[in-house]
Amino acid sequence: MRSTLIFLTALGILPAVAQQRPFERNLREHEQTLAPFVASPQVVVDKMLAAAGLKPGETMYDLGCGDGRVLITAAQKFKAKAVGVELSAALVAATNQTVKRLNLQDQVKVIHGHLLEANLAPADVVTLYLDTATNEQLKPNLESQLKHGARVVSHDYEIRGWKPVKVEKIEVYKRPHTIYVYVMPPKF
Ligand SMILES: C[S@@+](CC[C@H](N)C(=O)[O-])C[C@H]1O[C@@H](n2cnc3c(N)ncnc32)[C@H](O)[C@@H]1O
Repeated sequence: MRSTLIFLTALGILPAVAQQRPFERNLREHEQTLAPFVASPQVVVDKMLAAAGLKPGETMYDLGCGDGRVLITAAQKFKAKAVGVELSAALVAATNQTVKRLNLQDQVKVIHGHLLEANLAPADVVTLYLDTATNEQLKPNLESQLKHGARVVSHDYEIRGWKPVKVEKIEVYKRPHTIYVYVMPPKF
């Protein structure tokens, strides 16, 4: 097995990701991780997408999409197109399996990559469950790439310096959750 891999790699046949050993892949993920995987409760996901006013046919992005629950909800309940960006290869594989099982391949796409490198221009809605420092790093990309009227919804962590159009609170199993909704202003 090992000699076959070395042979194929020498011929340049294997893709870069397959050439990485699991340890190297985990180390790369560990170094680039901006927030741990903690799933938003389903009621919070429903409320985030409703608060954003996600409409049928619109495109939403979840940056750090975890197990894909926001994408799947956007596609099934809101009839939207959904794009997720996720660093963890394991979570990307799990989400792709779910998407296939639910036959949502035409509506949901998952990009295995770094959220700060994503092209956000097509998004009508962006959802976030990261942290305040990561939101701060992401802010210049949101400001330069999102169109006027696009909505950004952040679970629990505000985007400093932006004024939310809505702040909604919900308690799930005695734990309070806050949803911040922002609307992108016109570009000058
Ligand atoms: C708190 S979870 C949120 C999951 C999902 N959005 C939700 O609300 O249920 C944050 C996710 O961001 C992913 N993540 C962390 N750093 C990342 C990066 N640099 N690029 C892409 N995804 C990243 C983590 O692997 C994790 O799945």
